[in-house]
Amino acid sequence: MKHKIEIEGGATFFVAADEDSLLRGALRAGAGFPYECGVGGCGSCRFELVSGEMQTLWPEAPGLSERERKRGKRLACQSRPLSDCVIRVRCADDYRPPISTRRRQARLTGRREIAPGMAEFTFHTQEPAAFLPGQYAIFHPPGVAGPRAYSMSNLPNADGDWRFIIRKVADGGGSAAMFDTLREGDVIMLDAPYGGAFFRPDKDREIICVGGGSGIGPVVSVARAALAQGGRTIRLFEGARTAESLCAPSLFAPQELKALNYAPVLSAEPEASAWSGARGFLHQEVEKTLAAPDRCEFYFAGPPPMIEAMQDLLVMRWKAPHDRIHYDKFF
Ligand SMILES: Cc1cc2nc3c(=O)[nH]c(=O)nc-3n(C[C@H](O)[C@H](O)[C@H](O)COP(=O)(O)OP(=O)(O)OC[C@H]3O[C@@H](n4cnc5c(N)ncnc54)[C@H](O)[C@@H]3O)c2cc1C
Ligand code: FES
Repeated sequence: MKHKIEIEGGATFFVAADEDSLLRGALRAGAGFPYECGVGGCGSCRFELVSGEMQTLWPEAPGLSERERKRGKRLACQSRPLSDCVIRVRCADDYRPPISTRRRQARLTGRREIAPGMAEFTFHTQEPAAFLPGQYAIFHPPGVAGPRAYSMSNLPNADGDWRFIIRKVADGGGSAAMFDTLREGDVIMLDAPYGGAFFRPDKDREIICVGGGSGIGPVVSVARAALAQGGRTIRLFEGARTAESLCAPSLFAPQELKALNYAPVLSAEPEASAWSGARGFLHQEVEKTLAAPDRCEFYFAGPPPMIEAMQDLLVMRWKAPHDRIHYDKFF
């Protein structure tokens, strides 16, 4: 059964009852519904319900303030239609999925530790792994309320091979389930691809990839795509607390790291250690390194404070145009 959703003054689409959130149903139908994180953190998917019945899946989702909730705002990624509805939201073509989002059965075929508490997960699907480098998938980790987003770290391929770099978060429900409950051979639903921070191959600019912690996953995918394309300068900045937490050395061969102008930046390496590379925060190293930021296209991912520091550098200080900045904030 499907519910008909009408956007006031705009498109009409259908959402599968009991299966999809309003957001995922809208994107599956090809609507340009605004969103970023897909999991309740960012607030980009705010809308108003004009008529009909809508269930709220996670009432405390941080993407809405108490004031917004009281004023009748809702999050499309945390709403499920229970009847035909009319809603109010401003859609835009930029949000239309460049590749149709689909649910697939995915089998966990491998899990390899690449740094303490960080692992590369490999899943296999019967269908090709269709996504753009830099995009993410949505999973429902077993036994945990709500979905979690994880970004693909490999390249799209016809073999149905999907890779993710996942950090086990202290006291985190979803990541712990991915590490401890999900076993090799288990099958889980993989819903993808989502996200707008994907590689733009047609822009003739230097490519700057900046990944903090597990944010390295999507920028590794972008860096891989840029390497495969060739002909452009690429810089890969990776931020970690200590040298042993760096991931890129386990993911790339030494000659690839050289081609990527790989720059590891450590924020908590003991002063007494033998580390002779950069120390401090990622945005500081980006600022020190780039001589001509106006010739760059920026891709970055990681925890909210890192994203905000990068935005401050790029937007407020360097006045980089909006269309050269592509990021995912890991809520
Ligand atoms: C676009 C995007 C891409 C990401 N890519 C990666 C990646 O490649 N690798 C990686 O390690 N991490 C990634 N993350 C972070 C990841 O999705 C999880 O937030 C992280 O693994 C911590 O989840 P947790 O359940 O362990 O922690 P928790 O602290 O238990 O939960 C963290 C998040 O889960 C969601 N959540 C919590 N409770 C509920 C609920 N009741 N209902 C619905 N949602 C709930 C919220 O979004 C919350 O912020 C990404 C996040 C985003 C938004
Ligand atoms: S997309 Fe719904 S809160 Fe981020």
